[in-house]
Amino acid sequence: LVTDAPRDIRTVRAAAAGGLHAVAAPGLPPSVEWTGDAVRVIDQRRLPGELVLRDLRTVEDVVDAIATLAVRGANVIGTTGAFGVVLGLRAGRPLDEVAALVARTRPTAVNLQVAVDVVAAAARAGRDPLAAALGLLEADREQCRRIGEAGRVELAGRTRLLTHCNTGRLATTGIGTALGIVHAKAQAGEDVHVLATETRPLRQGARLTAWELQRSGVDVQVLPDGAAAAALLGGLVDAVVVGADRIAANGDTANKVGTLGLALAARHAGVPFYVAATLNAVDLGLRDGGAIPIETRAASEVLDRPGDLDVPVWNPAFDVTPGALVTGIVTEAGVLRPPFTTSLAAAVLAGGPT
Ligand code: MRU
Repeated sequence: LVTDAPRDIRTVRAAAAGGLHAVAAPGLPPSVEWTGDAVRVIDQRRLPGELVLRDLRTVEDVVDAIATLAVRGANVIGTTGAFGVVLGLRAGRPLDEVAALVARTRPTAVNLQVAVDVVAAAARAGRDPLAAALGLLEADREQCRRIGEAGRVELAGRTRLLTHCNTGRLATTGIGTALGIVHAKAQAGEDVHVLATETRPLRQGARLTAWELQRSGVDVQVLPDGAAAAALLGGLVDAVVVGADRIAANGDTANKVGTLGLALAARHAGVPFYVAATLNAVDLGLRDGGAIPIETRAASEVLDRPGDLDVPVWNPAFDVTPGALVTGIVTEAGVLRPPFTTSLAAAVLAGGPT
């Protein structure tokens, strides 16, 4: 196993055991890759200290990686889950069993269920499930590119962007959704300065977004979650851009817990609040966000320091932001605007089946 935690990824040593591969390359490897007999992912729990690749060889490996957040972010759990179904089928497991096993691993991001359904439908129709999973990976990459471009145009002239959690190259197979807009701006040579919320309790902002942007040479500053309202009302932010795990038909959006507070503060400050997501995050079956299943996670994620009290904890991983607080939803089909009940349905129906 990799035992040290160097700040400089280039010094990571070769891993010895259990499907782990440490990489020495300075570039960011693909977030998800099919090796021929395994799905290779970045173990996001080890970042930013170590860049460790993990080969997932069984459907149980995939379920464990998703459940423990080795792999996290709506789009990447969808793609990884798709390969999980492929691995289960290759092991001779019944389709319904592996599909259900993977889909229930994390309940909030509908991308996971959609991806499992795509691979399962291919298998039932006698098509190659692996080709279906690889197709999802490629589609995600292209959808992120389009989101980045649409968001870049929409946010022209807005340079100081506040974002939450991690929605970039680690969370998708492309440049990302909300962070894809940042990458698109940077790639176009436009000024962009990112305020990344720490994102308690698992610190996806401080650990992952800051790492990803630093490696890309993008100007980034981390702030504690509790400082975000002050930044917004203090005039430090030109726009808020966040991702989504599930968007109901009316635009109500489930995303990393803390998003709702950002939306409320942004509205009070008169700062535009954008959601950026691939259309497979849209769940037209839910009229509003009230029925979105919200994952609650272990108390140990919150009370994680030596000497912390043993007290009851409420640790929802996501919250739901009313569509009424959302300025626009940036998708691969362009920027959708209120009323979202109309614009989301039109975009999803025009896109056809995933
Ligand atoms: O619990 P996580 O880290 O998987 O939560 C991730 C988020 O909330 C992201 O904003 C969302 O999944 C979009 S990632 C493109």
